[in-house]
Amino acid sequence: MVSNFVSKGAAGYESFMGRWSQRLAPLFLDFAGIGVHERVLDVGCGTGSLTLAIAESCEVDAIEAIDFEEQFVEALKQKSRDPRIVARQGDACALPYGDGQFDRALSLLVLHFVSDPSKAVSEMRRVVRPGGVVAATVWDTFGGMPSQRMFWDTFCAIEPAAMERRSIALTRPMTGPGQLVSVFVQGGLEQVRETSLTIRMEFGSFDDYWEPLIHGQGTLASFLSTLSERTTDKLKSDVRDAYLCGGPDGARSFATTAVAVKGTVPRPT
Ligand SMILES: C[S@@+](CC[C@H](N)C(=O)[O-])C[C@H]1O[C@@H](n2cnc3c(N)ncnc32)[C@H](O)[C@@H]1O
Repeated sequence: MVSNFVSKGAAGYESFMGRWSQRLAPLFLDFAGIGVHERVLDVGCGTGSLTLAIAESCEVDAIEAIDFEEQFVEALKQKSRDPRIVARQGDACALPYGDGQFDRALSLLVLHFVSDPSKAVSEMRRVVRPGGVVAATVWDTFGGMPSQRMFWDTFCAIEPAAMERRSIALTRPMTGPGQLVSVFVQGGLEQVRETSLTIRMEFGSFDDYWEPLIHGQGTLASFLSTLSERTTDKLKSDVRDAYLCGGPDGARSFATTAVAVKGTVPRPT
């Protein structure tokens, strides 16, 4: 399988993650830096957070968007009729584009779900012209996502079976220190730079936090269905206590950080 991403449909994705990737996209674009009249590739476009941010804020000539999930590609097509956007289904590890076709290849919150991220970076490098830029960002899931940590640490405290799941969720490949940079350097990119990008995940209430978390993406809901009703009730009650932290139900805000890396495709010597 080329993707480790488990989709629950475009609407579920939007409520769980799309609303936050929309916030991250402009920060990532500032870091990746896009010039006028460029041809840009969005690898793992999902429902279009980055593609649409590029279309709104950059004077580019063309935006190609590709994702493994057909239903996400369809959702993106429904969102915009911008003639510069061409979206298609496909694999980041076997990009259906010629060599050097783009000025920039970007990837927002994708490489930690790709089965072979080195291959994906090498493909992004191949399709970008010499002197062009490859850039990617992934969440710092281990230390930079307090809203997820709060859930998993609470879960593990009451249910040992959750520990393996916590490890999978919080220590995905590419999210550890130096991993993304290392793949870029080993992939032959030059002038490789790393930075941190921080947004705030703002929830309106506990339900606004809880429902998308359980049902929006992945296999959490089916895992919970294997546990006793007593355990799942306690989990919800304890996570609710952690979310509220002694206050009334309502809005809470979590500073959340992603690691971003960019590098330049070498020019022939
Ligand atoms: C967390 S989502 C990010 C989507 C979008 N970039 C965003 O920021 O909202 C991860 C995306 O990576 C895509 N993906 C994972 N492996 C892939 C692969 N091998 N080829 C193409 N897309 C892939 C998934 O289908 C999913 O849409």
